[in-house]
Amino acid sequence: MTPAQMAETHAAAFTEARPWSADEFEALLSNRFTHQTGDRRCFAVYTLITEQVELLTIATHPDFQRQGLAKQCMELWHSKAAAQGAEHAFLDVAEDNAAAIALYRSCGYVTCGFRRGYYLREAGVRVDAIAMERALP
Ligand SMILES: CC(C)(COP(=O)(O)OP(=O)(O)OC[C@H]1O[C@@H](n2cnc3c(N)ncnc32)[C@H](O)[C@@H]1OP(=O)(O)O)[C@@H](O)C(=O)NCCC(=O)NCCS
Repeated sequence: MTPAQMAETHAAAFTEARPWSADEFEALLSNRFTHQTGDRRCFAVYTLITEQVELLTIATHPDFQRQGLAKQCMELWHSKAAAQGAEHAFLDVAEDNAAAIALYRSCGYVTCGFRRGYYLREAGVRVDAIAMERALP
């Protein structure tokens, strides 16, 4: 996928939080630690450093949600990262993002901490992040 395609899917999927621009995706993917997987329907971006991997974002275009694509995409980046040596996966999720929390739990993630006021919503409202982890593969 190109950064512009990622930005397009991200903008369609993220209605509560600010989507990332094509320039932001391009900058993120310009370092050798950050990778992407998926297609215009659903994609994920993750950073892999030695045995640790962190999910930076995942998005499914609203036209394709609830079809199992995000779950497949999670499994794909888990197996790619594990093949590259990752043993532990981490992510942050906004505490009001019920869909993503349910997705991550269904993929075996458990809560490992909180970041108070981590996300900034419109009108200056701050939302806590839940930190989640799981072992790989
Ligand atoms: C979260 C998101 C990626 C899920 O994508 P998806 O392709 O629709 O998810 P899947 O179809 O693979 O769902 C897998 C499981 O996740 C959970 N889930 C997904 N969407 C859900 C929803 N709206 N409400 C409750 N649970 C949900 C369910 O457990 C689901 O399994 P089921 O359909 O058998 O019940 C999608 O809703 C999205 O793009 N949201 C906006 C972006 C976002 O919040 N990204 C995550 C934070 S970075």
